[in-house]
Amino acid sequence: MIKPHGSDTLNPLYVQDDAKRAELLKEAEGLPSIVVCSAAAANAVMMAGGYFNPLTGYMNKADALGTAEKMQTASGVFFPVPIVNMVEDASSIKDAKRIALKDPNVEGNPILAVMDVEAIETFTDDEMKMMTDKIFRTDDMEHPGVKAFNSVGKTCISGPIQVLNFSYFDKEFPETFRTAYQIREEMGKMGWEKVVAFQTRNPMHLAHEELCRMAWKAVKADGILVHMLLGKLKKGDIPADVRDACIRVMAENYFEPNTVLITGYGFDMLYAGPREAVLHALFRQNTGCTHLIVGRDHAGVGDYYGPFDAQTIFDDEVPKGALDIEIFNADHTAWSKKLNKVVMMRDVPDHTKEDFILLSGTKVRAMLSEGTAPPKEFSRPEVAKILITYYQGLEEKPEIKLGKHSG
Ligand code: ADX
Repeated sequence: MIKPHGSDTLNPLYVQDDAKRAELLKEAEGLPSIVVCSAAAANAVMMAGGYFNPLTGYMNKADALGTAEKMQTASGVFFPVPIVNMVEDASSIKDAKRIALKDPNVEGNPILAVMDVEAIETFTDDEMKMMTDKIFRTDDMEHPGVKAFNSVGKTCISGPIQVLNFSYFDKEFPETFRTAYQIREEMGKMGWEKVVAFQTRNPMHLAHEELCRMAWKAVKADGILVHMLLGKLKKGDIPADVRDACIRVMAENYFEPNTVLITGYGFDMLYAGPREAVLHALFRQNTGCTHLIVGRDHAGVGDYYGPFDAQTIFDDEVPKGALDIEIFNADHTAWSKKLNKVVMMRDVPDHTKEDFILLSGTKVRAMLSEGTAPPKEFSRPEVAKILITYYQGLEEKPEIKLGKHSG
């Protein structure tokens, strides 16, 4: 199986040994503590699962600036975004060298991790702006990722962590939440060597299903890893449990047995388009996948990114050899009325727009809210049924604005 990023074996930061974990928890109860922000908690969960290998904890200022500016830590590790623990005010932990990190996303704020504090540093406004511009290619506070990144303080607490649980993810999504370590194990058991990963934060419609199949066939993969985001999304996006149900019903009914693993990871969406695509590639390599599908407007939001910016970044900005995983670049995929199947637009140069079934997100949401299933060329009926129940149960009808996902 493909090697993890940055080391020969995966080094998940979850403390596996029960006795050791109990001991650390006991110690943590007596330590100065801080309730971290949701992004920092998600970073801890990702590091716990081995997804952010080879990091051993939260980045310091030099590493954060380096990764934002040139996708490299001070010691030369390739990493596309800063993995930080940002706080408004670190005075509550004073000069403590060892602290407990508490979970903002679980009632009662239980202890999530223990941290050795190496540094507490504050970014200047100029540094925050530089990082924001580099990561998101915009500093517009209307951008949900920009807003989240700039709303949690400018002080970073850095140092190694030992993670004691997986926040709410393993409890809320026991069938779906998997660590990178577990995915490697499962794929190993199935004898999969070549695996194509599909990142998603949406229910899968027919175009997505076919996209997976096309990539699987094109690279002659043993299997497909459908890997959905289970963390926080912006208003208007579909909650993880609904997406999970849609994806499972689709896979059960339409994929050949033993060709697909349905899994999820605990991370909040950044909406950072190209940079997030690189992060996606990095952590799929850590799961053992050999390929990642990057399609149209991957991890994008509104009109902040060009439709294929998340593909070109791999050629233009990622140094050769920085990652071993390969990218399967997908063109816009849709149902061809002429050929009666889903196609990639680049493969059918004779087609005009009218030859495809193209429905905007706005249109699809409006149909589902009214209880109308989209055409079978767009959505599997079992998937449409779940989405109709969801949309009809919403008290507040979906907010309709901005590009691909929300409008
Ligand atoms: S994402 O934010 O997780 O990227 P989404 O779940 O919508 O959003 O997309 C999952 C993957 O499918 C991404 O790689 C995206 O580029 C790709 N994709 C979605 N819709 C299409 C489409 N119609 N044509 C080509 N690629 C698509």
